[in-house]
Amino acid sequence: MKINRLEIENVKRIHAVMIEPSKDGLTIIGGKNRQGKSSVLDAIAWALGGNKYKPSQAANADSTIPPRLKVIMDNGLVVERKGKNSDLKVTDPEGQKGGQQLLDSFVEELAINLPKFMEASGKEKANTLLQIIGVGPQLAELEQKEKSLYQERLYIGRTADQKEKFAAEQPYYPDAPEEPVSASELIREQQEILARNGQRQQWRREHDSILEKIMKTEDEIESHEASIRALKARLGELDEQRKASEKTPAELKMESTDELERSIDNIELINRKVRANLDKAKAEEDAKHYRDQYTELTNAIEDVRKQKTSLLDSADLPLPGLSVKDGELIYNGQQWDNMSSAEQMIVSTSIVRKLNPKCGFVLLDKLEAMDLDTLKEFGAWLEQEGLQAIATRVSTGDECSIVITDGYVEGQDGVFAKEEPAPKATGWSAGMGF
Ligand SMILES: Nc1ncnc2c1ncn2[C@@H]1O[C@H](COP(=O)(O)OP(=O)(O)O)[C@@H](O)[C@H]1O
Ligand SMILES: [Mg+2]
Repeated sequence: MKINRLEIENVKRIHAVMIEPSKDGLTIIGGKNRQGKSSVLDAIAWALGGNKYKPSQAANADSTIPPRLKVIMDNGLVVERKGKNSDLKVTDPEGQKGGQQLLDSFVEELAINLPKFMEASGKEKANTLLQIIGVGPQLAELEQKEKSLYQERLYIGRTADQKEKFAAEQPYYPDAPEEPVSASELIREQQEILARNGQRQQWRREHDSILEKIMKTEDEIESHEASIRALKARLGELDEQRKASEKTPAELKMESTDELERSIDNIELINRKVRANLDKAKAEEDAKHYRDQYTELTNAIEDVRKQKTSLLDSADLPLPGLSVKDGELIYNGQQWDNMSSAEQMIVSTSIVRKLNPKCGFVLLDKLEAMDLDTLKEFGAWLEQEGLQAIATRVSTGDECSIVITDGYVEGQDGVFAKEEPAPKATGWSAGMGF
């Protein structure tokens, strides 16, 4: 739906203005400051947007006649406000009456109040775009997921750092055995050796006593010549016994328990080192576990980010180069505050256009930010989009479709003409090639 014709009388700074805007592209309302340019846009917003757009001082202060607004849409719908109470009257081409509800169905609120969109936060702008392209809930879900993975990774990362620091601080004894040493085992070994040594002692004592007996017997031989034979036999026997009881020097060698004793003394010290080494190994394993988890989470975050990118890449965006990154609107790689005023205007218009495709027009105040080339480019873009834009600009140059002076359109004749002095007729209609 577009605007075919506007008639505005006695609204704010306007005395009488009639405009027939171009169907497509830019219709620029020019004029010097405070001549009534913005009043035209305010009047349109009031006519189509409803009483919430009624200016606080709607009636022209210099006139006793109440405001009168008439907007004729391109399908023949007529919207009027007139009379003491500026009552709304909506009449469709068949003569049927309608009301604000009918207007609301094709008037996009942001199209008559573009500053509301332009002044919204980056997040709000991005959300509006996401709503239009229909990926808002999916993206929100992915962003929520990314956020919670990020939080989790942050926590895990800190824990991994702490654990690694703790593990590094633990002492390490390279000379300690891998397993704790058992004292009872050493004591048992010691007991066994002591037992074997006792046996050896016994053998020694027995052997010694045999030798003693031999000596005694020899004494007896001496003293008992008479029993020499018997004693010799006895001696022979004893000699046999002596042989039988003979042990090798190796068998008789006494074993030392010194080392074991030292080990038993050392055992506490050793085991302290062993436990410390085991603790360190455990701490390192613990830290590695957290570091691995951190890496896994990093991969998960990357994955979610890729999903986000591909979700947006596959979406039907209203303008090439327009996208959303980290909840911010991005145009040709730039964030909102990095876009030129002209780019901001194009981005806003393209988004607002998609919000309600039935609304074929948009009101743009203060187009001064665009130089003539940019303006031409913007006008061409609007035409190509089939969009009607009614804009104001502080200028009286050729780019202006009409120029407003003192609440009148310069050169306009008939009922909308300023009575005194008669202006030269330069034509008010749109279509100056923009
Ligand atoms: N109801 C009104 N009656 C008369 N003048 C008004 C009224 N409301 C605003 N103005 C005056 O209109 C001027 C601004 O009009 P505006 O349409 O914003 O001008 P422009 O956009 O051309 O600079 C200001 O000087 C303001 O004081
Ligand atoms: Mg203005």
